[in-house]
Order: sequence, then C-alpha cells, then structure tokens
Amino acid sequence: MTLRVIAIDGPAASGKSSTARAVARRLGWAHLDSGALYRAITLAALDNLGEKAGEGGTAGEGWSAQRIVGLADGLPVRLVLVGDVFRPEVAGVDVEEAIRSERVTRRVSEVAAIPEVRHWVNVQQRDAALRHHAGVAGVVVDGRDIGTVVFPDAPLKVFLTASPEERARRRLAQRGGRVDPSELQREAAALAARDQADSTRAVAPLRAAADAVVLDTTRLSLDDQVARVVALARDRLPG
Ligand code: CDP
Repeated sequence: MTLRVIAIDGPAASGKSSTARAVARRLGWAHLDSGALYRAITLAALDNLGEKAGEGGTAGEGWSAQRIVGLADGLPVRLVLVGDVFRPEVAGVDVEEAIRSERVTRRVSEVAAIPEVRHWVNVQQRDAALRHHAGVAGVVVDGRDIGTVVFPDAPLKVFLTASPEERARRRLAQRGGRVDPSELQREAAALAARDQADSTRAVAPLRAAADAVVLDTTRLSLDDQVARVVALARDRLPG
C-alpha cells in the first residue's frame, strides 16, 4: 500500500505548518511538523549538554552527533499522535511551546545540519507516519526536505514561498509582537540567516523537489493557500 502523504516544504515562516495543519483538518488527515522534531532535539541538547558553542560558533565537544542522538534515544525525544496532530515530547513532557523559544530557534539549523541527527529524525518521521497510517486516512508532513528526501514518492508535493519581508511580518504577527520597521528588519535578517544555513548545508539542503507545485503565497491569505492545496489534493488523491 502506498502511503498517502502530502509533502509541504519551504523556507522559514513561509506558512508551511499553518497550511499543513489546516489542510490536514480539511481532509481529515493527521499533521506532522518535522521542524518540531529538530526543535525538540535542539531543546534537549540545550537543556542537557549546556548552551556553549565551540570555536567559530559551531557545536562544542559536548554537542557531538553521538551525544545528541544518544540523548534523543535515551530521554526519549518523540512524536505522539494526540487527536490528529503529532505532538513533540521530551522525556514524556509535551514541549510544543518550549521549542518555539528564541533560544531554540537560534541553534536549530546547526543541529539540523548534522547527518546523524537527520537520519534519526527521518526514521522517526517515517515510523510515526507508518505506525499511525492504519488509524488515519493520510498524513500531511511539513518541513524542508519532505518531498526531496523523506517521502520522495509522495503523490503531492507543495513548495511554499513568500517574500522575506512578508515572512518576517507574518512571524512577528504570529508572536503578537510589534511590527515596527526596525523589528521587521531584524526578523527578516534572522530568517535570511536561517534560510542561508538550511539551503547551503551538505545534507538534504532546502530546495523544491523537481515535481513539486511551487506556490508563492506573498499575496495569498492563509484561507486561499489552504484552498489551493486542498484542491490539488482532491485532484491527485481522489477518494
Ligand atoms: O517554523 P519555521 O519555518 O521557522 O521552522 P521549522 O519548520 O520549525 O524548522 C526549524 C528548523 O529545523 C529549520 O530552520 C531547519 O534547520 C530544520 N528543519 C530541517 O532541516 N528539515 C526539516 N524537514 C524541518 C526542519
């Protein structure tokens, strides 16, 4: 049986998670946010291996691939299906809120560039999707490499983009913060730095799959972009 997966990829704050969540709800499918796993592992490393970066801003001795993956296995870091949404847990505690902190956001791309960490996350994602496949009609998965690496056979792949200014504005609005020009500029620079790190890493860099539908959402509302993806899903995945 082929897995019914919709892959939604794109740069930071392009609306992947909100779109994936809403599309899953409309189709009656489950939603899996792969970034949440990278964030949960980063949180676990910060809490258990110390905050200090090594030379050149890269992870120090304590943040070796082996120690990070050992922690993820041991604590454990995992995804638990609650209703129709996979929630990230560290040692049995729901960390959905804690993983969105600035402290985690600042270090997550560094952790996500480690090949052993990516392998671990990919095993968890495929396992979660397969394990729960019987209970749900399908899974909408969002991330950076879902269509290219994790589920290359997904029958529908969508790559969401939006201008850097619009993405910064959305991220600030989401946080409920002030959207003044200097804050906007600071946020756009932080997003651009993370996109640069995610697009230039050696393993599974951020890019659209050759067969992805590219959707520029700069001038679309969330409802519009959700409607477009749902229409594509009904077309490609009838029944
Ligand atoms: O919500 P936002 O778009 O800001 O980020 P996220 O989806 O929570 O992902 C956080 C980080 O995890 C990204 O900046 C990537 O470094 C990494 N990530 C990845 O490498 N591959 C994925 N499939 C998902 C996330």
